[in-house]
Amino acid sequence: MSTPYRLKTWDEYVAAHRRSIDDPEAFWDDVATNYSWRKPWTSVLEWDFVKPEVKWFGGGQLNITENCLDRHLATRGDKTAIIWEANDIDHPSKHITYRELHAQVCRMANVLKKHGVKKGDRVCLYMPMVPSLAISVLACARIGAIHSVVFGGFSANSLVDRINDSQCSVVITSDGIRRGAKNIPAKTVVDEALPSCPTIGCVLVSKCTDDAVPMQAGRDHWIEDELKAVDAICPAEPMDSEDPLFILYTSGSTGKPKGVVHTCGGYMVYAGYSFANVFQCEENDVFWCTADIGWITGHSYIIYGPLLNGATSLMFAGIPTYPDATRFWQVIEKHKVNQFYTAPTAIRSLMAAGHDLPSRFAMPSLKLLGTVGEPINEEAWHWYHEQVGKKRCAVVDTWWQTETGGIMLSGLGDITPMKPAHAGLPLPGIRTILVDQQGNELHGEAEGYLCIDFPWPSVIRTTWGDHERCRLNYFAQYPGRYFTGDGAKRDADGFFRIIGRVDDVINVSGHRIGTAEVENAIDEHPDVVESAVVGYPHDIKGQGIYAFVICDHVRTDKDALRKEVIATVERIIGKIARPDKIQFVSGLPKTRSGKIMRRILRKVAEGEMNALGDTSTLLDPGVVEEIKAGKGMIA
Ligand code: WTA
Repeated sequence: MSTPYRLKTWDEYVAAHRRSIDDPEAFWDDVATNYSWRKPWTSVLEWDFVKPEVKWFGGGQLNITENCLDRHLATRGDKTAIIWEANDIDHPSKHITYRELHAQVCRMANVLKKHGVKKGDRVCLYMPMVPSLAISVLACARIGAIHSVVFGGFSANSLVDRINDSQCSVVITSDGIRRGAKNIPAKTVVDEALPSCPTIGCVLVSKCTDDAVPMQAGRDHWIEDELKAVDAICPAEPMDSEDPLFILYTSGSTGKPKGVVHTCGGYMVYAGYSFANVFQCEENDVFWCTADIGWITGHSYIIYGPLLNGATSLMFAGIPTYPDATRFWQVIEKHKVNQFYTAPTAIRSLMAAGHDLPSRFAMPSLKLLGTVGEPINEEAWHWYHEQVGKKRCAVVDTWWQTETGGIMLSGLGDITPMKPAHAGLPLPGIRTILVDQQGNELHGEAEGYLCIDFPWPSVIRTTWGDHERCRLNYFAQYPGRYFTGDGAKRDADGFFRIIGRVDDVINVSGHRIGTAEVENAIDEHPDVVESAVVGYPHDIKGQGIYAFVICDHVRTDKDALRKEVIATVERIIGKIARPDKIQFVSGLPKTRSGKIMRRILRKVAEGEMNALGDTSTLLDPGVVEEIKAGKGMIA
């Protein structure tokens, strides 16, 4: 018996899931044969979740770009691979065919080679959402270099941390980044970072905004000039299945962001398989994922997933509210988008901008709507389904993580039933379970900690340079299982509903922010002694950042101090981590052993002053009274 690659009915889903549990190796062996391999694998899976060590398709060799590009040339050479829609509405959009994309990726790969980049080298990308970002990502993969994309909203300091952690040898950037009405001086940020990055010998700069930027002779090169001087043929480097494909930094509950490592074979199989089944794209469909390529969603569902399936992927350089809050609907109408995939925070902000705005646009092309990144509330779900999808379109709420590489829980197009605000059922091959605090598996209808009990091809392999951190973060809490850090409920039909993070990670507009990271940044301000950061419910962003800050002397100019603290966070991490609320306090609620009682701070931040629970174990219960009274609070 074999399983179809693309499932088309509920019965096929049930059978595929059953088989993936009963005989996972045979199941994935079948799925993987849908790709082109230089050398077939000799073993499907070897695994140990305790170490952890996971190997998929061992002995196999491939290059993911051959699967994304070369494989389609004979049948889809003239098909559009990428539609690019610019930030500014009057800027013409671009259509890039598979053949053109192949040639451009080969050229860029040759530029990288010319600058000494070899298989296994790390390349940092800090760029706007322009085609040359997608091309550069694929160019790295073409020659076996490991890409590390850093979101353009991060500061020079964050860039330094990421470049140094993985010892990148080259940075690819642009003169500037235009997002909405704002300009991010990307090259200037890179210039600011590089004196602290001894491993970088070369900066490749793409012309995007035409801003004048200084170029350092010998180190900085314009990509557009370099491309003219190289060949459009570049053989793909054969990669072992378990060779790293990319590193992507993400925040956790402790310390600095960690570099999640994904490998060539397993990531390819799962990114492709999940794309095909969740979004159910037909051959001539246009698929649009609004994420930034700086996040995992952009990696898996703007670049790799769609291209592995020969789909047309729309890439958008702007934001939902520029020039106004109808931009998404305009783009859907203009490019006749069939599948639209965005974040609940965008849905909520567009809903707030005017309930009936989508109705002004004809969007008959839409077949499917997706969400990702954070829980979607029922009100937003219904608005999306009714106002955007006109009740005709399936809505898939896709739950997954940087570490999972691809979608784990979701509806599959319209072949599985939908439940508002539920991520739904596991994809074939995925064994999501709930456990209690002690790690006992909960059965049937239950609420608990969400774990995954068996490897899937795109499970995180390690955290770059620190395998122990990977073990401790994901595999040590419940030995033998992958722990997601999320809490979830399962109903009587087996549908999952994600509650949210149960660790010290805040989800702000779908972006993961570690509370410890923000605290460390705030503490860099010279007047700050200590701080504690928690999340609180925010109507648009899902969660906001609330900081309790202790200073070493009383400053009366609280407003100025607040601005300085925010500027410090922006400098150390970037704008995405700026606190929404800062409360200056003289002490923090601590236990006698010195541990901050975040539970109490969370309640204060949520405004639930009367639900603080037992405070008798605190070192100084008086602190709580002061915090409650909101002294020094300037929101
Ligand atoms: C949250 C993004 C509810 C969750 C792909 C997870 C979600 C974290 C959903 C991962 C969803 C993601 N419903 N919560 N559909 N999707 N999350 O690594 O808390 O940026 O652990 O990956 O986002 O965020 P990351």
